[in-house]
Amino acid sequence: MSERTRPWRSALYIPGSKARALEKARELPVDAILFDLEDAVAVEEKAAARETLAGALRQGGYGDRACIVRINALDTEWGIEDLEAVAGAGPHAILLPKVDGPRDVRRLAERLALLSGTQNTRIWAMMETAQGIFDAPAIAEAPRMEGFVIGTNDLAAEIGCETGGARMPLMMALQTCVAAAKMAGIAVVDGVYNAFRDEEGLRLECEQGRSLGMDGKSLIHPAQVATCNEVFTPSETEVELARRHISAWEEARSRGQGVAVVDGRIVENLHVATARRTLAKAGA
Ligand code: COA
Ligand code: MG
Repeated sequence: MSERTRPWRSALYIPGSKARALEKARELPVDAILFDLEDAVAVEEKAAARETLAGALRQGGYGDRACIVRINALDTEWGIEDLEAVAGAGPHAILLPKVDGPRDVRRLAERLALLSGTQNTRIWAMMETAQGIFDAPAIAEAPRMEGFVIGTNDLAAEIGCETGGARMPLMMALQTCVAAAKMAGIAVVDGVYNAFRDEEGLRLECEQGRSLGMDGKSLIHPAQVATCNEVFTPSETEVELARRHISAWEEARSRGQGVAVVDGRIVENLHVATARRTLAKAGA
């Protein structure tokens, strides 16, 4: 898949310890899989999960889905061994938890450089500490960075805020991550919706994330995938409007004008750039 147009609508967490879920994910219509060795894996299971996961990655069968492995932080007793066990199995990227600043990412990049076959392995950062939020622009610019996953549960726990109420208490953090990601040209994937049987609540939170500028959402259960993909895929109406923006603007340009009008609203070159992104997303 062309890396430039790769979609990041749905990113499903799978505990590295759950063989059944690792198997099932080969058929789920997700854009990315976040194979987890961190929070979803109990301390007693860490070593076994690492081997189970490395085996599943070597076996493959995940198709176009971006395989991203969340290791334990490098300053924990598991981090380095996690990295060494999975890096050689060819994951698309490593997801680093609890990133406080660009130094954490650089440290992982340096470690990766020592492991063979990892020249193209990208890095994603969990944005889930107060420190990390304030350093978001520098983290986004760090080596190998491809995207942020926002860790809303950890962040809310650290700040001591609530996750309900349309996420108002988290808004500054969410917006900071989106702006930093866009500034650096990397992807940004929203935090999880914990009540995985509540489809209506999930839909509202997906829509909110999309309206904030998120590229997609991290998920915890297969039941969340369809709704998430639907919300983060441009609708036919949006695609049609994007086409009309582009053609109206091109027509205006051919008459030597820089601004067009569609449905009573002005269309300038920035709207055309947005329209092209919409079409690229729809095509992907
Ligand atoms: N990825 C892939 N498959 C999953 C899955 C996931 N995250 N969660 C559940 N499944 C599979 C189950 O294996 C089961 O498959 P089967 O019916 O073919 O055997 C099916 O989906 C239905 O599962 P269900 O019984 O509804 O869920 P559960 O009660 O077993 O598990 C959770 C619920 C929340 C514990 C589980 O979804 C999970 O572990 N999610 C990921 C949590 C995580 O990674 N957290 C870290 C980041 S927040
Ligand atoms: Mg966490």
